[in-house]
Amino acid sequence: MFSKKIGLDLGTSFVRLISSEVKDPIVERNILIVNPANDEIAFKGNEAYRVYGKENPELKVIKPIKNGILQENIYQKDLIEGHVSTLAGKNRLFKPDFIVSVPLKLRESDRNSIASLLESLGASNNSVLIPEIILSAIGLKLPINKSSGVAIVNMGAGTTEIAVLSLGGVIVGDSIQYGGDDLDNLIIENFRLSNIEIGRKTAENLKIKYSGAEIVDNTVVDEVKGKDILTGKIVNFSFKRDMLRQALVPGLERIAEAIKQVLEKLPPELASDIIDNGLVITGGTSNLHNLNFFLSNYLNVPVYRLDNPHYSCIQGIEYIINNNEVLNKNIYLK
Ligand SMILES: Nc1ncnc2c1ncn2[C@@H]1O[C@H](COP(=O)(O)OP(=O)(O)OP(=O)(O)O)[C@@H](O)[C@H]1O
Ligand SMILES: [Mg+2]
Repeated sequence: MFSKKIGLDLGTSFVRLISSEVKDPIVERNILIVNPANDEIAFKGNEAYRVYGKENPELKVIKPIKNGILQENIYQKDLIEGHVSTLAGKNRLFKPDFIVSVPLKLRESDRNSIASLLESLGASNNSVLIPEIILSAIGLKLPINKSSGVAIVNMGAGTTEIAVLSLGGVIVGDSIQYGGDDLDNLIIENFRLSNIEIGRKTAENLKIKYSGAEIVDNTVVDEVKGKDILTGKIVNFSFKRDMLRQALVPGLERIAEAIKQVLEKLPPELASDIIDNGLVITGGTSNLHNLNFFLSNYLNVPVYRLDNPHYSCIQGIEYIINNNEVLNKNIYLK
């Protein structure tokens, strides 16, 4: 009852933390750069992301979460324990209760791995794991407790999760281990076809700045730096923006198809609710230019993106912390 509550959104590219005492979430890139010779951490979090791609080749890049699943328990702990102890405060009579976002499909071993991370962070036994997609819906203030269905898709860096929620629970849902990082890969592969190698950060920046899911203005982007695969030299190259859109099409169709299959599983009454009410997209990848139009054409339902898609999950956790919300038991995955 007197325990502090700490919210933790463990994402593939970002970790976000919150408690009732802070106004804005703490946001860190979920990445570390380690010296394998002595296991020492050279850089972590946002600082590691700044040097990522330029690090000494002898150093190893560690991303604790892969496709939404915790893989590197010890490094994950190292990355966040300082923030956790700030949020937990000095007075530690009671262990903090954690509220942690997890993927919709969580295997026993994945759950155990999060449980041991929480234990190592000093969490209480009242800590709960809640699917990210439900937290995002709460963060976006969608009416998940009503009987009319709410369709939501969370597109992150490593996962795309799809669910139709009604009366506080998941009616149908699915997830694919595919997200923004995979779209970056498509861009990298596309340039490779022209014998140009670009880094992951460049690919992500090009995606965010110039790509889109539907027709983009097809101006030329120039002065981009990459490595000529044949000569090994760094070269400046240029390309038309629509090339990026074309590169993304197979990935976007894969995402759209996964959503379609979930919607097709709906009972008729709920399916007609979704056709009327539409589908909400959230998560960082939902920011992709014109993605709502692309999905709406593919699925034949209205598609909306609400404000702050990067923060919907952690805002959902914040809402639960501040409102002491008693959620429908069946969404808890303790
Ligand atoms: N404007 C944009 N256009 C396209 N993609 C974007 C844009 N802004 C951010 N992204 C992508 O969003 C992704 C990060 O989203 P988010 O923060 O929701 O992921 P995450 O929570 O770390 O990952 P996950 O939930 O999959 O574990 C990255 O792949 C990033 O490139
Ligand atoms: Mg996420």
